[in-house]
Amino acid sequence: MSLSFDRSAALIAANARSVAGGVNSNFRIGMAGGPLVFARGDGPYLIDVDGNRLIDYYCGMGAMVLGHTPHPVQQAVKDQVEKGILYAGQSEIEFEAAKILCERIPSAERIRFGSSGSEVAQAAFRLARAATGKRIILKFEGHYHGWFDNILWSTAPGENAAGPEDAPVKVAGTLGQDPIDAAGLDVIGWNDLARLEARLARGDIAGVIMEPAMCNQGAIAPAAGYLEGAQAACRKHGAILIFDEVITGFRLGREGAQKRFGVTPDLSIFAKAIANGFPVAAIVGRADLLDLFVTGGVLHGGTFNAQPVTMAAMVATQKALTPELYEAWSKRGLRLRDGVREILKDAGIKAQVTGFELMFHVGFGLEAPARNYRDLLKTDKAGYVKFAHALLMRGVRVLERGAWFVSSAHDEAVIDATLEAVRGAAKDVA
Ligand SMILES: Cc1ncc(COP(=O)(O)O)c(C=O)c1O
Repeated sequence: MSLSFDRSAALIAANARSVAGGVNSNFRIGMAGGPLVFARGDGPYLIDVDGNRLIDYYCGMGAMVLGHTPHPVQQAVKDQVEKGILYAGQSEIEFEAAKILCERIPSAERIRFGSSGSEVAQAAFRLARAATGKRIILKFEGHYHGWFDNILWSTAPGENAAGPEDAPVKVAGTLGQDPIDAAGLDVIGWNDLARLEARLARGDIAGVIMEPAMCNQGAIAPAAGYLEGAQAACRKHGAILIFDEVITGFRLGREGAQKRFGVTPDLSIFAKAIANGFPVAAIVGRADLLDLFVTGGVLHGGTFNAQPVTMAAMVATQKALTPELYEAWSKRGLRLRDGVREILKDAGIKAQVTGFELMFHVGFGLEAPARNYRDLLKTDKAGYVKFAHALLMRGVRVLERGAWFVSSAHDEAVIDATLEAVRGAAKDVA
């Protein structure tokens, strides 16, 4: 089986005259097979303009937890549109949305909504600095917290640029970043408690931000005791612990990675899956910290914050995410993850398939599961791109960086069809 993507290619080429590169995010450019143009979604499938019906494991970069066309979310959005689009004032639907998250997420004593993960990360830094009176935000190599200048450092540095593992160099993520924006930031390696404790002991850290499980690159669980140790060290040295749950939220469990791993941070941010594809993000956390927006002189704004249509989508999404749904869905996710691992092994392809039920990572060329970004640098990226392309030609769309997002619409038959395609693609590249 081999598919054609000619119409996508023609549309991208024609529209690159108006849209830069024919895409609206750099993360959609330059993939094997070319950027695709889609006509519609249908559950676990995307149908492109060439008429290909692709099983989709991008799932909107992790946002489409319920698949592409969940009826309750679609209906809630239609109903809300009838009632109005943007009030620049409060609505009952936003209070309902807030209540659900505050009941569900362990760290959520208070909440504020925004529109993207990048943006609420900024709100977290502002709160951490205002609360502590300190300047430095500490982040970890390979972790991604949005595309803004003050945090887009060392997200995917090349081996030569990254410096020594115990003293990484801050590497800019893009041209056009002002080096002054790195002045309020420090970067160290993740999953090494002694290193984190030593850095915090210098006493200048306002906030520590991490993905509680590293999922933007790889799918790496925290080492035993790491999150607990990070929390204790932050408390000891007066730093605010921030979990970036933009990927892990609603994927590593209904209540987030913080519930799964049993560590409640001071602040957390959510986006992506929170409203199944609608632009909603949230910063949640300790009441005294969020109240700095009210009485502490800290500004938080946004024209589209808690936009009612997106809030309706969020409420419908969260209501659909029942414990029963997770139970069955997780079993299917594990069957897929373990199936991919088995097939690659049988085909003699050296790879590590690691991660979680609803989000896992396939790392070609790795001898052992990665523990941090430096381990991931040993990934055979070119080999995996070939495999991802072979899968695409068999009707399965996966991210070239190795991440697989499984939605609740990926039923047993879809998992079977995927594993069949994986068998074929593994033969193609072995
Ligand atoms: C862990 C993590 N944090 C933050 C972001 C930024 O979110 P957004 O793309 O909504 O700005 C992303 C996006 O991929 C992410 O993966």
